[in-house]
Amino acid sequence: MSLKVARRGQIPPFIVMDVMRSAFARQASGQDVLHMEVGEPGTPAPAAARAAAAAALDGRPIGYTEAMGIPALRQAIAAHYQRTQGVAVDPQRICVTAGSSAGFILGFSAAFDPGDRVGLAAPGYPCYRHILTALGLTAVSIPVGRETRFQPTPETIEAAEARDGKAIDGLIVASPSNPTGSMLLPEEFGRLATWCRARAIRLVSDEIYHGITYERPAVSILALPRRGLAGAGADGAAGGAADGAIVVNSFSKYFSMTGWRLGWLVLPPELIRPVECLAQNYFISAPTLSQIAAVAAFDATEELEGHVRTYARNRAILWDALKRAGIADVAPPDGAFYLYADVGHLTNDSLDFCRRLLAETGIAITPGLDFDPERGSRTIRFSFAGPTAVVEQVAERFERWVRR
Ligand SMILES: Cc1ncc(COP(=O)(O)O)c(C=O)c1O
Repeated sequence: MSLKVARRGQIPPFIVMDVMRSAFARQASGQDVLHMEVGEPGTPAPAAARAAAAAALDGRPIGYTEAMGIPALRQAIAAHYQRTQGVAVDPQRICVTAGSSAGFILGFSAAFDPGDRVGLAAPGYPCYRHILTALGLTAVSIPVGRETRFQPTPETIEAAEARDGKAIDGLIVASPSNPTGSMLLPEEFGRLATWCRARAIRLVSDEIYHGITYERPAVSILALPRRGLAGAGADGAAGGAADGAIVVNSFSKYFSMTGWRLGWLVLPPELIRPVECLAQNYFISAPTLSQIAAVAAFDATEELEGHVRTYARNRAILWDALKRAGIADVAPPDGAFYLYADVGHLTNDSLDFCRRLLAETGIAITPGLDFDPERGSRTIRFSFAGPTAVVEQVAERFERWVRR
């Protein structure tokens, strides 16, 4: 008799990781690959962070930390909000996590019960959907498009609720978003947050791409009250629209530290202790060496801003190449390091399109199906976080391949 396998693990793959595996297999067989599939910087952690980690490897024990993270890092993260968003955040509200990925597990577990319905934009980051499903929650797809800069609005949520005949209990927003890079403009963010607060919908704001923006800086949900964009909740006494929101962030993207597996949450008061207890039990603590390194990462602004300038150059090169290749329907890439393009005039099977592109040119990109199971068969995503030399080669090869 075969043994039971739980339904929890029967979730779809994170397709981009499968693409990366195929790309590495191709590389191992001696063929070249131009990596534009995974959203990770091609640069190392900031020099100051690496130096701090090296100094900590002097024989001292690298033990567990307290579950919420080392005080120096929680204070440095709080100071970062004061500097970048002009808001005071109590370090007690910050929980340091093993990447934002662990932050989602902690935040979702603390805020929602099995069966709760959590809305998310489609296209959107696939792991939200899959983590929610694994935790026994219902991921509610909110189809969005160019009309709303690929961001959810009260109207698109109401349409999804009408479709399902059920309201949502929570909403995940990402600004800038993955895969589109598009942002919620501050007024729209305030309107959305106010609408959610009036309906007791808990907001989760994924701010992992903050710092990587091209037209205007991204606004944290924590800064909406300071800007006068978070009116009082429906019940008045409950306070402003940002109250109750969970903020998720990470050292992976702006700070160029993907493999160090470090992120953080900013929690509303009622979730601090539940998240602390969950973190103690699930993870004990986030990686200690990474926490020590990350404190120093906040002093590396010049180096990190240099990376953002590289992304801006890469974005321009790739965007021009897509236009020359006849691909003009690209989501507005306000931030992050992605171009999400509609290639419906070239294919109705983005998986096959990406497979052929890799086999025939060595260019690895991600099919839109990863981000939008319903409409992603006509879209593709390029990550331009790597070196400019790679982006230039991709631009040239991709254009030639499409025109062949
Ligand atoms: C929108 C978004 N959130 C979260 C993550 C997870 O990042 P990490 O766990 O490395 O912090 C990613 C990774 O690509 C992402 O794109």
